[in-house]
Amino acid sequence: MKMISDEMNGGLNEQITSEFHAAHTYLAMACKLDSMGLGMLSKWFRHHASEERAHGMKIVDYIGEVGGTVALDTIPKPTGDYAGIEAIVQAALDHELEVTRQINALVGLAEEQKDYATRGFLQWFVDEQIEEVATVGEVLNLVKMAEGRNLLQVEARVAKMLAPTH
Ligand SMILES: [Fe+2]
Ligand SMILES: [Fe+2]
Repeated sequence: MKMISDEMNGGLNEQITSEFHAAHTYLAMACKLDSMGLGMLSKWFRHHASEERAHGMKIVDYIGEVGGTVALDTIPKPTGDYAGIEAIVQAALDHELEVTRQINALVGLAEEQKDYATRGFLQWFVDEQIEEVATVGEVLNLVKMAEGRNLLQVEARVAKMLAPTH
């Protein structure tokens, strides 16, 4: 039995594409950073890319659970064209802020439709966005502090960020 509206189903499908787009973009960023010799930042972006893919899969599973229909869309081509490391991390932060707006819009729709199951499901994403915006912001601050000079120290700090939980 289908337990979500067509509109909510459509919104969730768009979010799947958005999460896969983020995964695709972060992988492109990881490759660019690797080519710049920044192995730890590259690893961090790769890790982030697989998290985004997991987010997309979480929504795929939810749509299945509530009897909706998964419709995958085209994933936009990621740009490989960044002015430098700060531009890459800034673009990642902008992307996270955009995803946060999208999640909030879905929460708004769920509340409007009194779809409390989807509202509850989305809370995990609300919490995840707080963490992701904070973490990407932290990396951006590190890169800004280095001012293009102390990138090895940024690498060391990012290595520490990767070490305990991942
Ligand atoms: Fe995500
Ligand atoms: Fe994210």
